[in-house]
Amino acid sequence: MSYVVDLSGRVAMVTGASSGLGLQFAKTLALAGAAVVLASRRVERLKTLRAEIEAAGGNSHVVMLDVTNYDSIKAAVAHAETEMGGIDILVNNAGVSTMQRLVEVTPQDYDFVMDTNTKGAFFVAQEVGKRMIARAKGAAPGTFTGGRIVNVASTGGLRVLGQIGVYAMSKAAVVHMTRAMALEWGKYGINVNALCPGYIDTEFNRHYWATESGQKFIRELPRKRLGQPQDLDLVLMMLCANESHFVNGAVVTADDGFDVG
Ligand code: NAI
Repeated sequence: MSYVVDLSGRVAMVTGASSGLGLQFAKTLALAGAAVVLASRRVERLKTLRAEIEAAGGNSHVVMLDVTNYDSIKAAVAHAETEMGGIDILVNNAGVSTMQRLVEVTPQDYDFVMDTNTKGAFFVAQEVGKRMIARAKGAAPGTFTGGRIVNVASTGGLRVLGQIGVYAMSKAAVVHMTRAMALEWGKYGINVNALCPGYIDTEFNRHYWATESGQKFIRELPRKRLGQPQDLDLVLMMLCANESHFVNGAVVTADDGFDVG
């Protein structure tokens, strides 16, 4: 017996699709048959990704999005829906981090992380969620097949680590935001879940893994290794699948056992 997640006919939007996890999420959703809206600030990179997806037989569309700008969020979502149709799946992935002790954090550092990871993620989900709710209310019985919102949090949102305190705070807020949205929007057939990855090798942290302290950190991980973006493919598929309609408000870790270590 085999099992296939088929997202044909679904429109998915991935924020922060220009690199790392977002890029991989977009390719995986396209492979599963979804039409994928690639949203980020670095549009040239998104165009390269669109070409790659289309060469593999997929369908995608590029939109410029800065999640720290409310007007940009509204414009990007409106543009995406005009071009591709109503968004069925949102992967709320854009994020940033800084590394410093709490006593060194300036108001600018604080706003940089919170404006992107928490406020940005909230208003992207709100804009998409409002439109999903409108579709759910307007749909003839049985015609709205349900929305999926995957908020990319972090194990840092569950377990505090030194030097990334503000980042951990921003992601803890995303975990709670997920539960609040699941509670309010579940009745409209919208499932909101949080994905908490462990340490994955991306542009986000590659500079750190190259340092001596980064190498020491890897040796102290439960299996002494980093993950690769594709290691999250199946858990993403599970959270986006039509068949996962019973999974709502879940906080799913994919961290190689870090949180229990
Ligand atoms: P990355 O740096 O490769 O990707 C982050 C993406 O977010 C980039 O495409 C960037 O352009 C985009 N972005 C940042 N600010 C933005 C803004 N204002 N507007 C629109 N897009 C913006 O990093 P990575 O690792 O792919 O991170 C993706 C998500 O995964 C982030 O939310 C991060 O916190 C989370 N995460 C990453 C982990 C890791 O070990 N790499 C572990 C746990 C969570």
